[in-house]
Amino acid sequence: MDEFERHGIGVVTGRDAAARALRAPELTSDPGTGSPSLLLRDGEEHARVRAVLREIIAGLEPFPDALRSGIEQGVAGLGPSFDLVRDFARPVAGAVTAAVLGVRLDDVFFDHLEATTANLDVFGGTDRAGQASAFRLAVQLSRLPAGPGGLTALRAAHAAGRLDDDELTFTPVVLAHAAYENSLNFLACAGLELASGAAAGSVRAQVTSICPARYVLRFGAEGPVAISLADGLPFGLGPHACPGSGVALAEAEIALGALAKVLERGCRVSDVAWKTHPVFHGLAQAWVELS
Ligand code: HEM
Repeated sequence: MDEFERHGIGVVTGRDAAARALRAPELTSDPGTGSPSLLLRDGEEHARVRAVLREIIAGLEPFPDALRSGIEQGVAGLGPSFDLVRDFARPVAGAVTAAVLGVRLDDVFFDHLEATTANLDVFGGTDRAGQASAFRLAVQLSRLPAGPGGLTALRAAHAAGRLDDDELTFTPVVLAHAAYENSLNFLACAGLELASGAAAGSVRAQVTSICPARYVLRFGAEGPVAISLADGLPFGLGPHACPGSGVALAEAEIALGALAKVLERGCRVSDVAWKTHPVFHGLAQAWVELS
C-alpha cells in the first residue's frame, strides 16, 4: 500500500496474519498521545470504557420497532431521483446514531461528524479541521438535553465514577462517529450494488466483501502497522472488535430491504464518485433515477 509505505507504516494482509496481529499482545492501539478515546487505548482503561459502551449498544438489541419503522418509511419515501449517500445512507446511519445517543441530531452535526478523524487520523495528527470538528461536537453534546439512551447513560456512568471527566467529554463523539461513519459507507456501497444489480448473498456477505473500514492501526516495537480487514474481518477481531456489529447488520438488513422494494421497478445509476480516504472505503455520491 503506497500511501502507508510513504509514511513508514507497515502493512499486514491476509485473514490469518491479520487475525494474529489483531490479537497480538505486543501490538497496541495506543499511539502514546494520552487520548481518552477507547479506540486509542488498551488494558484496564479500554476495558472499563468499552463495558459502558456495550451496555449502551445493548439498548438497541433487539432493534427497536419505532426505529425500524422510521427507517422503512424514510426509505419508502425516496424517489424519483436520489443520491444514495445523501438521501439514503446518511438519514439511516444518522437515525441509528441519534437513537444510540438518545438525542436529536441535525445535518450540521453529521457534517462535522464526517469531518472528524477519530481513530483514523492515520498519518500523524495533522488534520486540524477534523480535530476542530471533533472538539465542536464534544462541546455541543456536553450541553445537549438527552432522553433515555447513550448520552444519559454516559453521564450516569460519570456520576457513578465509571468514567473520568475527559472520558465523559470525548466518548459521546467517539460513539457517534463509530456508529455513523462505517454504517454510512457500508449502506451507500451496498445500495449501489443493489441498484446496479450486483448485490449477491446476505448482508453479512456484503459487509465482508465491501469492508468499509479497510484497515485498523496498531503500534509495535518497529513502529505503526496497518492491519487489513479486507480479507474477511470487516468488524475487526480481538479486544477492540466492533461491539456494534449486531446493530449494524440489523440496520442494514432493514434499510437495504426497504431500498430493494423502492428499486423493484428498475432504475438507472449515474454520477458515481468515490471517497479517497486510505482507511474508510465509501462513496461520495451515486445518483439513482427510478424507471
Ligand atoms: C457496517 C458498519 C460497521 C463496521 C464495518 C464497523 C467496524 C468496526 C471496526 C473494524 C472496529 C474496530 C476498530 C479497531 O480495532 O481499532 C469497530 C469498533 C467500534 N465500533 Fe464498529 N463498525 C460498524 C458499525 C458500528 C455501529 C452501528 C456501532 C454502534 C452502535 C459501532 C460501534 C463501535 C465502537 C464503540 C467501536 C470501538 C470498540 C473498541 O475500541 O473497543 N460500530 N467497528
